[in-house]
Amino acid sequence: MTPRGTDWGLALLVALGLASGLATWFAGSPGGAWVFGAHALAGTALALLLVFKLRRVLPRIGARARRDRRTLRGLLALGLVLAVLVSGTVWSTAGRVGVAGFTVLFWHAALGALLAVGVLAHARVRGKRPRGPDLADRRQFLTAAALGVGAFAAWQLQRPLQRTLGVPGAQRRFTGSYDAGSFTGNAFPTTSWVADRPRPLVRGHRLTVAGSVQRPLAIVASELDRGDTLTATLDCTGGFFSTQHWRGVSLGRLLDEAGVEPGARHVRVISRTGYRWSFGLDDARALLLATHVGGEPLSHGHGAPCRLVAPGRRGFQWVKWVERVEVHDDPDPGAVASTVWSSFTAVGRGAS
Ligand code: HEM
Repeated sequence: MTPRGTDWGLALLVALGLASGLATWFAGSPGGAWVFGAHALAGTALALLLVFKLRRVLPRIGARARRDRRTLRGLLALGLVLAVLVSGTVWSTAGRVGVAGFTVLFWHAALGALLAVGVLAHARVRGKRPRGPDLADRRQFLTAAALGVGAFAAWQLQRPLQRTLGVPGAQRRFTGSYDAGSFTGNAFPTTSWVADRPRPLVRGHRLTVAGSVQRPLAIVASELDRGDTLTATLDCTGGFFSTQHWRGVSLGRLLDEAGVEPGARHVRVISRTGYRWSFGLDDARALLLATHVGGEPLSHGHGAPCRLVAPGRRGFQWVKWVERVEVHDDPDPGAVASTVWSSFTAVGRGAS
């Protein structure tokens, strides 16, 4: 590989690692498994390409006379790349390991984002324009193809090898998540996307259904259990999954009772904290507002008196402490921001 080909290849793979890593947050159904495959391929190809880079720069690091300030920066960058690669591999091999109070997956994502920002800034400031041979040279092309094949082979062999060795990674879901308390009712982890922790909702809490509907509804929480059931897997981006029997009322049933206006296409599900997510009308009809899990009333930590159950979506879209369902003509561009700022409101912090 030419030096510039190697450096641009590394930058491209880091960018792919970040893009596919972020995309994993939105891939919760088996149809999205390719996102995790793409992520593993980008990461493995990066590890292989790093060998070319190290062959070039290690002699420079070894020779004291050739060391300068850039050597130190290079070593820091190398440490960061290795930390990202090792943390990703530890997670996908060794199970739900934690470091300093956070899961290895958390550290992996945070370090991966830091690496990507650093590498992309570096490429912008110091990157040298690739020349013809960096892109079109036959040997260059063959080496890149061999890297791709090597990464693909490693990815294909990973699961069978893990099963043979009996390591925890063999038990993880296609999302990289590990089982936590499936079919145990409320006894699975209570997590929050950022830090929502409202006070328990008062008895007599009402769920409203409003917006583009013919008959707005206000239903007392105790009347929300209509016996509709769903067995679904909550798969948290924090790295655990839990399959449970959920019971409550189907969102489709509530939308029919309220009578959706013609032309309305989107449904927002809004938490007491202001946290919200929006779904297309057809998708929303298949969701459940759960009041019970595994036959037990939902605990406060799991979103009592009712939370959304959204099969095939990552856990952060399973809105907890649901207060309001709104029907709209348009999607909700503010939903993503709401998932962050809700934790900084007085209600979200539990201060009022
Ligand atoms: C530039 C940055 C990144 C690189 C080079 C990278 C690389 C890797 C590697 C090598 C693995 C192990 C794959 C396997 O063994 O199957 C991995 C796993 C994983 N990474 Fe990243 N990653 C990066 C950033 C991110 C980010 C930003 C996120 C999330 C926002 C993320 C989410 C994940 C997840 C969920 C897994 C576990 C997948 C599984 O177990 O199959 N990564 N990553």
